[in-house]
Amino acid sequence: MKIGIIGTGYIGLTEGLCFASLGQHVICYDIIKEKIDQLNKGIPTLYEENIDVLLKENLEKKTITFTDDLKVVLSGSEIVFLCVNTPENPETGECDLSQIMTSTESISKMSETLGNKFFILAVRSTVPVGTNKKVKEHMLKINPKLNFLICSNPEFSRQGSAIYDFMNPDRVIVGVDNEKSKERMGLVYKPLTDKGFPIFFTNIETAEMIKYASNTFLNIKIGFINEICDICEMTGANVEDIGKAMGMDKRISPLFLKPGPGIGGSCFPKDSIALAKMGNKLGLDLQIINASVNSNIARKNSLASRVINYSKNKLEGKTISLLGLTFKANTDDTRYSPALNLVEELAKKNIKVNAYDPHGTDKFKYMVDPKALDFIRFFDNAYDAIKDTELLVIITEWDEYKQLDYKKIYDMVQQKVIVDFRNILNEQEMEKIGFKYYYIGKKI
Ligand code: UGA
Repeated sequence: MKIGIIGTGYIGLTEGLCFASLGQHVICYDIIKEKIDQLNKGIPTLYEENIDVLLKENLEKKTITFTDDLKVVLSGSEIVFLCVNTPENPETGECDLSQIMTSTESISKMSETLGNKFFILAVRSTVPVGTNKKVKEHMLKINPKLNFLICSNPEFSRQGSAIYDFMNPDRVIVGVDNEKSKERMGLVYKPLTDKGFPIFFTNIETAEMIKYASNTFLNIKIGFINEICDICEMTGANVEDIGKAMGMDKRISPLFLKPGPGIGGSCFPKDSIALAKMGNKLGLDLQIINASVNSNIARKNSLASRVINYSKNKLEGKTISLLGLTFKANTDDTRYSPALNLVEELAKKNIKVNAYDPHGTDKFKYMVDPKALDFIRFFDNAYDAIKDTELLVIITEWDEYKQLDYKKIYDMVQQKVIVDFRNILNEQEMEKIGFKYYYIGKKI
């Protein structure tokens, strides 16, 4: 099938490449010309495992092309996937639909110039319940002769494993209001359903809500284990064992029960807030959802005081080292990263940070509060960042941090303290070297 992708960000690019690898002919569109030029040269615009290989392969096979000309996408696609960003509106906390509205407006106008050729618009971006309906009305208002069907097709790919997740979905969700959309969407996912991966058809509003309900439920699950973790730190109970044992109950599942520095990324934090706001608008006080939002904010804001508590000396005016800037490993994304809260809070207390992250530095510089920038120095490798600092904090679970020579690092940090917010190191080994090793859930 011929498919178009509007928005070549984390989802649009990885999924465009996946569809191409499954045998569809894909045209990806983005308004940023430099991005399109770079992708046409085979250079990925973001970090994601295997993306370079898929990009090269599909460009060579000519199963994917990139364009900044909307006409090219619309004239050549039976299904157009809308993959633009729906960030948080910083003033209201609601989902900002401006990119959805401007891109669908352009599609509507452009379609008129192409004689209103039929297409299906599959909304892949995360949007509040009722948005598809509003978008449809908006598009028809602009161009009453628009010949299209709209369906909701939320994505469930995690950054860092987006290609794997797309190719091995737990389920594909499609919200439709007619048989034709169901049939065409069934066909586009046939390479996956033929392998036994399930497709779940429902109505449009339900599909929109499934995405919010899934993300927010996982946000609550992680927030819950993070609070259990705090109890463990005061009582000596072992949070890792609790997560494993809880997970042995099939009704709970062991996944997403790992404690950490708080939840980051462009999805869980903003989707949970947006769902709470949806409830507000409906006159509902969604207490569990609101509590999970606040619990996560509190956890991320507490990181600096946790580090200060673990230090036996005062840290004011001193420098600590930090491994990790991205919100989790295997991505270059720093949106809502707990490292932002940590660095910004430390800066307020006049504590400097030497940081190293294998892929996140550029995006972190752009995201962090400019007032904190004077307090942070970025390094190209872990040892240079750690040298002559007071203590070491690990906040992202990159594999390469596990391979470092901690005997060498022992001589580099003054206080012989490691604070590991991801529990990636071995407690016995660290203590044998001589470190005071604080991990998540350890009794203080
Ligand atoms: C999340 C969902 O997992 C995807 O299914 C969804 O498609 C995506 O949002 C989206 O809406 O686009 P993502 O934000 O990439 O994916 O990352 P996750 O792997 O879900 O992690 C989110 C946060 O939770 C990270 O900060 C991570 O470190 C944290 N986390 C995750 C934990 O602290 N503990 C866990 O056990 C799992």
